[in-house]
Amino acid sequence: MAQAVRIDTEKSAQRIGRDIERLAGPDYTRSSEAICRYAYTAVYRNTLDYIRGQLTDIGFDVDYDPVGTMVARNRPPSERAFGLGSHCDSNRNGGKYDGTMGVVTALEVCRLNHELDLGLPLQLISFVEEEGSGFGQMLLGSRIMAQRVSDVDLRELFRALDDGRSFWEHAADAGHEPQRWRESIRILDGLTGWIEMHIEQGRVLQDAGDRIGVVNAIAGYVHGDITVTGRADHAGATPMDLRQDAGVVAAETILELGRLARKAGKGTVGTVGEIQFAPSLINVVPGEARFSLDIRGVDEDAFHGVAQDIAAFAEERAQARGMKATFSQRQSVPATPLDQRVVSALEESVRASGQPYRLMPSGAAHDTMCVAPHVPSAMVFVPCRDGISHSPLEYAEPADAALAAQVILNAVRRLLPD
Ligand code: HGY
Ligand code: MN
Ligand code: MN
Repeated sequence: MAQAVRIDTEKSAQRIGRDIERLAGPDYTRSSEAICRYAYTAVYRNTLDYIRGQLTDIGFDVDYDPVGTMVARNRPPSERAFGLGSHCDSNRNGGKYDGTMGVVTALEVCRLNHELDLGLPLQLISFVEEEGSGFGQMLLGSRIMAQRVSDVDLRELFRALDDGRSFWEHAADAGHEPQRWRESIRILDGLTGWIEMHIEQGRVLQDAGDRIGVVNAIAGYVHGDITVTGRADHAGATPMDLRQDAGVVAAETILELGRLARKAGKGTVGTVGEIQFAPSLINVVPGEARFSLDIRGVDEDAFHGVAQDIAAFAEERAQARGMKATFSQRQSVPATPLDQRVVSALEESVRASGQPYRLMPSGAAHDTMCVAPHVPSAMVFVPCRDGISHSPLEYAEPADAALAAQVILNAVRRLLPD
């Protein structure tokens, strides 16, 4: 490969910062307190429209897969290209940078390629519904692309959190063609590689003083729900030993999940992020408790073992108290090793920049997990302040994203055949 390209990182940081601030404006989020945008909402549409405009300005053809994932190319469909991108939907209480900084940095790589006339064949992908904020299904756009869902999921089971209508109906109402969803995998045809840039969402890079993380593996996960069914009795008139309090089983299970995750070790983590009681009234014993499970790790046996054990624990504790508990799995994506050749190209590229970096796994899930089994893939992390993410307090430096753009640009040049 010719000499590594050194970009004007000031200029790129300024453009990345401008795009991030623009996409944090009121036309791009449903909340004035946080970034809140998800599939098929007007603010999500506006976000894609902005990115599309920036890409067409530099000669990209922009299209969508059958469910709304954006696919933009600077080459005709028949020619091979290198894939870059991420997602620009957000957590419902999201920050400006999760996903969006990755798409905007991929856009910056496309701009630099154009301005420096490097002639790289590029394809930018922005996956729909990565966060699951619309339908409760994380990585939904990339799982559809990777054929990791079924027709019944999309027609029946995956329903909008806002109105309960199916994913299928919402995709069709938004002008897409969900009946062609199996064709989505074609968006990977001819990709010679894939690199996703993302904020770390932890604090390893910040605490180590590193500016870049080259990601070589992504933790797998199980998402599911436990529903405990007890009796909604009067909170005053019901003696303690006559109760079937679903809330008590939920509390025991949440504590046990932490114990099991720690015991499993190997970086296994377990979280209960959502919990609902019914009827959820101050003077009624909870007759029902529904809570989510998010269990992750790089060791498949360890994290799947925790999922099985916590479901069994909840069933046993409920039974012991004369109640019932059921576990239902929402989805699971395996731990994903990334491509050594792409990882090495990124390492060589960041070493050429002279900036501090480290090789690291990702604890957070990413669309790259669905791309990697089909296309040689890796990821680039930049630090985010104090590891805060999935929060409006999230912050990342556009200057670090500009450095990532330079690293990605040079890695792609190393990876493409001369
Ligand atoms: O939760 C995740 O791992 C991702 O940020 N959606
Ligand atoms: Mn993300
Ligand atoms: Mn996220």
